[in-house]
Amino acid sequence: MMPSDETPLLELQDLTKTFGTGETATQVLKGLNLTLQKGGMIALLGASGSGKSTLLNILGTLLRPTSGGFTMLGQNLFTANDATLTDFRNRHIGFVFQLHNLLPDFTALENVIFPSAVRDGVERPAARRRGAELLDIVGLSDRINFRATKLSGGQKQRVAVARALMNNPDLILADEPTGNLDSKSAQQVMDLITRVNKSENTAFLISTHDEDIAAQCTSRIEIRDGRIS
Ligand SMILES: Nc1ncnc2c1ncn2[C@@H]1O[C@H](COP(=O)(O)OP(=O)(O)OP(=O)(O)O)[C@@H](O)[C@H]1O
Ligand SMILES: [Mg+2]
Repeated sequence: MMPSDETPLLELQDLTKTFGTGETATQVLKGLNLTLQKGGMIALLGASGSGKSTLLNILGTLLRPTSGGFTMLGQNLFTANDATLTDFRNRHIGFVFQLHNLLPDFTALENVIFPSAVRDGVERPAARRRGAELLDIVGLSDRINFRATKLSGGQKQRVAVARALMNNPDLILADEPTGNLDSKSAQQVMDLITRVNKSENTAFLISTHDEDIAAQCTSRIEIRDGRIS
C-alpha cells in the first residue's frame, strides 16, 4: 500500500541508543520522541556529544537503534532487515556530511550520479542528464568535468548537495553541512538548501551549532539529556 499524503515523514517513539555493553555502556539517546512531516527544513541543535550525529545516523539507517519505535513513510524500520534498510536508504534518503566525502578522483558529475549507479546497479544515460541538471541547479554547470580535488570547499559541498538530491529523496540528512566553510560559502549552501526545499519539497534535517543557520530553517529541535526538548 502506498503511504497517503497524511503519512508523516518519520516517527520516533521512546527511541534509545546505547553504545557498548556492561560497564562501558553509554546511553546516548534516552527515550526520544519525534514526529516530522514531509517537506520541512528542520535545524537539529544540541551541545557537542549530545547525540546529533548518532540520531542522524539512525535516521539514515546506517546505525541501529537499541529500542523504541522507528517508522519512516509508514514503514517500520526498527524491525526491517538489512536488505530492506539498504533499499529504503537508496530510495528515500540523501546525506550531506561536514566533510563532503566526495570521491577525489571522480569528476563532479561522476560524484553526483554515483548514488543512482548504486541504486540501479548500472549507470543510465538519464542519470547523466539528471546529474548535469543538478550541477546546474547548484551553480556548477561550468565545473561538471572537474575532478573533486580541483574544486573549492564550498564548491565541493554544493556537489555534495547535488549528489544527495540525485535519487530524489524524501529526506536529506545534513550533519553540520556548513561546519567547514567560510561564512560566504556557508550562506551559498544554505541558500541552495532553502531553494531545493521549496522547489522539490525535499525535507532537510540539518545539525548545526550555528544560530544563523538554525534561524534559516522552518523549525528547530534540540537534543538535551538524550531527549528532544
Ligand atoms: N561508536 C561509538 N561508540 C561509543 N560511543 C559513541 C560512538 N559514537 C558516538 N558515541 C558517543 O555518543 C555520544 C554522542 O556522540 P555524537 O557524535 O552523536 O554527538 P554530536 O551531538 O554529534 O556531537 P558534535 O556536536 O560534537 O558533533 C558521545 O558521547 C560519543 O562519545
Ligand atoms: Mg556530530
